[in-house]
Amino acid sequence: MFRSLVRFIKRRLPGRDEVQHPGRFARQSVAMLRREYQGKPLVEDHLNADPILQFEAWFEEATRVIRDDPNAMVLSTVDEQGRPSARTVLLKGFDEDGFIFYTNYDSPKGHHISHNPNVSLTFHWPDVMRQVRIDGIAEKTSAEQSDAYFHSRPAGSRISAVASPQSREVSSRQELENRVRELQEQYSNLDDIPRPTQWGGYLVVPNRIEFWQGRLNRLHDRICYTPKKGGGWEFRRLAP
Ligand SMILES: Cc1cc2nc3c(=O)[nH]c(=O)nc-3n(C[C@H](O)[C@H](O)[C@H](O)COP(=O)(O)O)c2cc1C
Repeated sequence: MFRSLVRFIKRRLPGRDEVQHPGRFARQSVAMLRREYQGKPLVEDHLNADPILQFEAWFEEATRVIRDDPNAMVLSTVDEQGRPSARTVLLKGFDEDGFIFYTNYDSPKGHHISHNPNVSLTFHWPDVMRQVRIDGIAEKTSAEQSDAYFHSRPAGSRISAVASPQSREVSSRQELENRVRELQEQYSNLDDIPRPTQWGGYLVVPNRIEFWQGRLNRLHDRICYTPKKGGGWEFRRLAP
């Protein structure tokens, strides 16, 4: 009885290796992370002919199920040498024209897009076992649209957008905080802060939209929409 109790306690204590290398256990066990996907079937008969409406239906479900950042998406760009780069941004609007996010045009992603407007957006919604991939061409939104969104943001976010030379090296956090303080002093009415010209939106006009639904035994559903000659969209099923 006593011995089995000792064994029980020992099994729950971290091993020497785990104490000395706290990350080691995760490294060794990563291949064991595994779950079964049992999502709702993605059936051709139930698909919307318009991928934007199909996205709207999935996005609506995602916002109901996912508490934080269902609008977070990975934006992939390529630089002048064709090297890929990816980072998360937030979707801030979508309609028949495309998908909108806001950023600093003078950032690496902004420079990539100005050289090569081909981008890719990836949503991963683990709670519903879904992924959506959107390939398209990014174009700047109009100044009026960027102004409207900029002025709808909380004052703190507006000041940070002005204060932050996105992705440039800064000497310290203090440098950024000082810049924020200077701006707060400069604009007694924070509503007067103008949108910096290097900050604004991009509209991604899609030319391929793929919906992925996790299914049992990794035999997932994938449906890919592409534009049809003469207008509209067509879709095909892809092997998982
Ligand atoms: C959840 C989340 C949301 C983000 N949303 C945005 C965004 O909407 N716009 C943006 O410029 N950066 C956003 N970022 C920061 C970017 O991932 C990235 O660090 C920044 O844009 C610089 O990217 P770049 O150096 O490749 O241009 C977000 C990061 C996270 C983790």
